Amino acid sequence: MEEIDWKNLSFGYMRTDYNVRCYYRNGQWGKLEICSEETINLHMAAVCLHYGQEAFEGLKAYRGKDGKIRVFRPEENAARLQSTCRGILMPEVPTEMFVDAVKMVVKANERFIPPYESGATLYIRPLLIGISPQVGVHPSTDYMFVIFVTPVGPYFKGGFATNPYVIIRDYDRSAPLGTGIYKVGGNYAASLKANSIAHELGYSCEFYLDAKEKKYMDECGAANFFGIKNNTYVTPKSTSILPSITNKSLMQLAEDLGMKVERRQIPEEELATFEEAGACGTAAVISPISKIDDLETKQSFVISKDGKPGPICTKLYNMLRGIQYGDEPDIHHWVTFVE
Ligand SMILES: Cc1ncc(COP(=O)(O)O)c(C=O)c1O
Repeated sequence: MEEIDWKNLSFGYMRTDYNVRCYYRNGQWGKLEICSEETINLHMAAVCLHYGQEAFEGLKAYRGKDGKIRVFRPEENAARLQSTCRGILMPEVPTEMFVDAVKMVVKANERFIPPYESGATLYIRPLLIGISPQVGVHPSTDYMFVIFVTPVGPYFKGGFATNPYVIIRDYDRSAPLGTGIYKVGGNYAASLKANSIAHELGYSCEFYLDAKEKKYMDECGAANFFGIKNNTYVTPKSTSILPSITNKSLMQLAEDLGMKVERRQIPEEELATFEEAGACGTAAVISPISKIDDLETKQSFVISKDGKPGPICTKLYNMLRGIQYGDEPDIHHWVTFVE
């Protein structure tokens, strides 16, 4: 068996031993099947390939200091996938089936769960695709649900640090009444160009304003946004952003810390008033923001004066990671053990 260099993993794909699959045919879900084949055999006219009837999720399994394997809030990913299913007319994956499949795929690939000390994790990727062959634009009749896993490196290799972000007004990732609230591949295709421009310019990630008025902060790449000021956690209320499970958890932890939590529109100018700000998501938990530049207006909102993560971002980051790894008590019952 090959040795894995846990310390040098990137956010890439590494082959693991098994994936878990399940088919929806004749109006019902079949049984979960464990599979060692990495590829899927798909009809060239499958609906997912042409009309984007596909959804995915992303979550992680963590190995604790106690050796136990924890998965963070899988029921929330199941609920979000169900919401996506309703949004693009796919059959819902029941929560129990989703969580069973997560546990099954993690257990089957136990040898790929990175050790506690490495800071690396096992990324879990559920995928749901419409597989019926057809050329007319209408929902598929048959579906395939698959979950695979792959070990990924820690987001902060050199320690928890701030990053610069850039507002790009020339592109929208999703429309106010579009699919931004769902986790469908099309949103990510729509973000590739702006993301590549941001990277070429040396920014960590692109930021979107609301598509209609171009006034309010929406989200950044594949993460939600939050700002901190006056002991308040402020995060955008928008019909075009993905409801982040990390953000939902951070809002709860901010409340636990005695902070006020506000979900409302955040005008771009308000960036100048934040004491701290961050991008949040499964990948990094929190990626603290050093500054946000507006490519068109040339305004630069410096958030971190000394370039370091602020005390509240640091505290929230440590609290959430502590729960995920089992270093802190799981007071909200967010953790599912894989035994
Ligand atoms: C567009 C987008 N926003 C936000 C998030 C963060 O969501 P979560 O915290 O559930 O990972 C993600 C990542 O899944 C994303 O792709």
